Amino acid sequence: MSDSISNKTASLAALSSHASLARAWQLPTLFAQDKQRFHDFSLEAAGLFLDYSKNHIDATTVSLLTEFAHSCRLEQRRDAMFKGEPVNATEQRPALHTLLRAPAEQRFELDGEVLSNDVQQVLDRMGQLSQRVRSGEWLGFTGKVITDVVNIGIGGSDLGPAMACAALRPFIKPGLRAHFLSNVDGHAIDAVLADLSPETTLFIVASKSFTTQETLINARVAREWFLNKGKTADLAKHFVAVSTNAKAVAEFGIDTANMLPFWDWVGGRYSVWSAIGLSVAIAVGMDNFRAFLAGAHAMDTHFRKSPLEQNMPVMLGLLGWWYRQYFGSASHLIAPYHEDLRLFPVHLQQVDMESNGKRVTNAGIPITSPTAPVIWGSTGTNGQHAYFQMLHQGTDLVPVDFIAAINPSHDRANQQHTLLANCFAQAEALMVGHQKDERSGHEGEALAEFRVLPGNRPSNTLLMDKLTPTSLGALLALYEHKTFVQGVLWDINSFDQWGVERGKTLAARILPELEGKTSSHTHDGSTAGLIARTLQKKR
Ligand code: F6P
Repeated sequence: MSDSISNKTASLAALSSHASLARAWQLPTLFAQDKQRFHDFSLEAAGLFLDYSKNHIDATTVSLLTEFAHSCRLEQRRDAMFKGEPVNATEQRPALHTLLRAPAEQRFELDGEVLSNDVQQVLDRMGQLSQRVRSGEWLGFTGKVITDVVNIGIGGSDLGPAMACAALRPFIKPGLRAHFLSNVDGHAIDAVLADLSPETTLFIVASKSFTTQETLINARVAREWFLNKGKTADLAKHFVAVSTNAKAVAEFGIDTANMLPFWDWVGGRYSVWSAIGLSVAIAVGMDNFRAFLAGAHAMDTHFRKSPLEQNMPVMLGLLGWWYRQYFGSASHLIAPYHEDLRLFPVHLQQVDMESNGKRVTNAGIPITSPTAPVIWGSTGTNGQHAYFQMLHQGTDLVPVDFIAAINPSHDRANQQHTLLANCFAQAEALMVGHQKDERSGHEGEALAEFRVLPGNRPSNTLLMDKLTPTSLGALLALYEHKTFVQGVLWDINSFDQWGVERGKTLAARILPELEGKTSSHTHDGSTAGLIARTLQKKR
């Protein structure tokens, strides 16, 4: 057995026996025994504060977890990612999204190419294009300024920019609206186009591959809609593309002079930092987009340089792994107490589950432990009136990340205090619970058991001063790196996504059957039945 495998095995054995003790711990007791707990189990990095004291851990747990991370060669694998080694081994590619947010003066060369120059050139072009739209210099075919930008893309070419535009709402130029069209469902494009005018709309067709069915269909429908009013010669004023595939962009009919490139070393779900963020740059301006990159870079630096036990993405990753591995937690809730972060959990679903929803190791060997949990969530306080009941009294242990900004973008202190009071109260209630009150009257006794909240349920609380482009960048980079850390702990390639391909292949076979063009494929009884019923009933 190699040293690293035996270290890992020994480390896992130590963690496993420690976990059987930790499962019996009561969080309120840990706080009663240690007045320093909040201080000892909190971290500050890149403008974010993380309180992770409400977890089933003590100093020994942290040291055993970080030892395990060492045995997984976390630092070496992290450095390999930053250096541009082909960490996405199944596609033989680096994963260099961190380069997209590195400072302009930081030169980065790979295989003889100065990639940092390419990145800066594209950022400059994004700046020019967004400034032309924002200043009113970019005019539509009837000479009117652009008022609406529609990003047509899906997955990573949609979720990151949509999330960032929602999060940075107060920074959006008044009079400019950003829309996101992703679903191939025709109702989606109807809803987006309903209030738009072809004269004042700019479409950004965003697709890394430029082969994605949903995006190309939506882009064609948008083009037809435009051509009802405009001419083919006017298309260049209303359609731009962001892609790695210039040939397909040209074939689609978009002038490649109107295309912003990016590179195959940027994974789709990590691409909001690239030209895929064009809609964000147009909406909030390039200075704010650069601040978003700078916030992420500050987190990158922290991740790269800090010792594991003081490293925020590492701690978040280890804690999530701890509950998945030893506490049977099948899901992880992201609860932003900030309305503008409502799409953050949705974006994280792709970041985390498309990255680590895998069943084999980097060597292709089936993994025996559970991998990525279900990531889910929505804003507080809304969630409190929907599913928080299950968190408090249900039978599953669901670790929660509460995320809040201390200062709002509005001046209604009462609303902000109420929001934060609810956020802190939920974390407190999850931990301290509510014990049976034997002293209540007859009716109270009958209900006593129903009122019990067992408590002892873990959570992290992440606080930022205010939600700004910089803090948003740091927050998103934090979760990207957390995902990477967990991928290393499971020895997963976090940068491929073979699982989504099969459905695409089968959809391509079923489509002509629904169109009545062919029925030569054999299907299982259920799929065949659904196709037959649709053909029979469709008008
Ligand atoms: O279907 C999954 C996926 O490949 C994602 O990884 C990606 O973000 C999305 O599709 C969109 O791909 P593209 O940007 O190439 O259109």
